[in-house]
Amino acid sequence: MSAAAAEAATGAGACAALEVEDLRVRYGELPAVDGASLRMARGQVVALIGETGSGKSSLALGVARLLAPSAVVTGGVRIAGCDPSSMSGREFRLRRAGLLGYIAQDAMAALNPVQPVGRQIGELFRVHRGMSRQQASRMRIDRPELVARRYPHQLSGGMRQRVMIAMAVALSPPLLIADEPTTALDVSTQAEILALLSELRAETGSGILWITHDMGVVAELADWVTVMYAGRIVEQGPVHDIFDHPRHPYTEGLLRTRRDLRTGRPGAPLFQIEGAPPAPSAGRAGCAFAPRCPRRSAVCSERAPALEPVPEPVAGGRLVACHHPVPPGNGHRPAGRAGGEVRP
Ligand SMILES: Nc1ncnc2c1ncn2[C@@H]1O[C@H](COP(=O)(O)OP(=O)(O)OP(=O)(O)O)[C@@H](O)[C@H]1O
Ligand code: SF4
Ligand SMILES: [Mg+2]
Repeated sequence: MSAAAAEAATGAGACAALEVEDLRVRYGELPAVDGASLRMARGQVVALIGETGSGKSSLALGVARLLAPSAVVTGGVRIAGCDPSSMSGREFRLRRAGLLGYIAQDAMAALNPVQPVGRQIGELFRVHRGMSRQQASRMRIDRPELVARRYPHQLSGGMRQRVMIAMAVALSPPLLIADEPTTALDVSTQAEILALLSELRAETGSGILWITHDMGVVAELADWVTVMYAGRIVEQGPVHDIFDHPRHPYTEGLLRTRRDLRTGRPGAPLFQIEGAPPAPSAGRAGCAFAPRCPRRSAVCSERAPALEPVPEPVAGGRLVACHHPVPPGNGHRPAGRAGGEVRP
């Protein structure tokens, strides 16, 4: 799909937070991301979902230029109209904090273990050491002077996450990437971090690319959903359309599995998608989901489906890559945060 088609699909304006055109990420022979295009408006929350190994983090790290040099990244990326590939690595590192904030799942790994957190934030601002009171209270950090003197290992998981968020949003970047930011936290801290990110989005107008396995979070926070399978985007659209009318058999299966886990009667068989996701593969003919798909036909193993607009039930920019999309109306909308994880 071209960037123009993606633009028409998302309705994002000229001032997009993020434009990705045919992004490919390869580790040796493994095509972890195999031609992904998407576009996010400022202030929009796009949830990126898919089973483990589908390429979500590789896409996000490719956008942020945070992959090891051994990874091969091609394709176009523009963040708030700015093309990182037009800058030297050094120039991009200097400008990165003003363009995008990256919130990782594991704050312990993301923060420098041998520096107090206040110095790390101070270095980001380059003007003063430690976080300002205003910023600390915005992040709900009590006693910021004390926290600033601590090393990452001396903080709780939730506090480390708040510090990482403080660093990610310090310069109010147009784009935030949150890669499963709450997975390692207890439920009440998860809820606090989600509320915090929601407020920050409203305050700063940053677009958020939110990688998650939690469909309750998607239902609550996202405007838009992008579904990945084996390195490719297979479906995308407005969140409620996706929940009400999933058109790709894989999306339909994910939503149905979660619905059964939440509402199934004790002892009743749970729906599950048969088989396991394949590793991304360069030589595959046809649709990667075919071996697991109840709607497959001969053409599915011969020709890979392109990501194309769905004409019904509503226009609104729905795209699906499937030769035989699910008819509209098989929705499984989860109820708020209790929607549960998508981690079959
Ligand atoms: N540094 C790496 N070197 C080699 N292969 C990698 C590397 N990182 C990821 N992969 C492989 O690339 C594919 C995509 O991985 P990625 O981590 O992007 O998936 P993901 O969707 O983020 O999964 P998860 O939900 O488990 O985080 C997988 O097959 C994975 O094993
Ligand atoms: S293209 Fe065929 S195999 Fe792939 S998801 Fe659609 S129906 Fe299933
Ligand atoms: Mg990941």
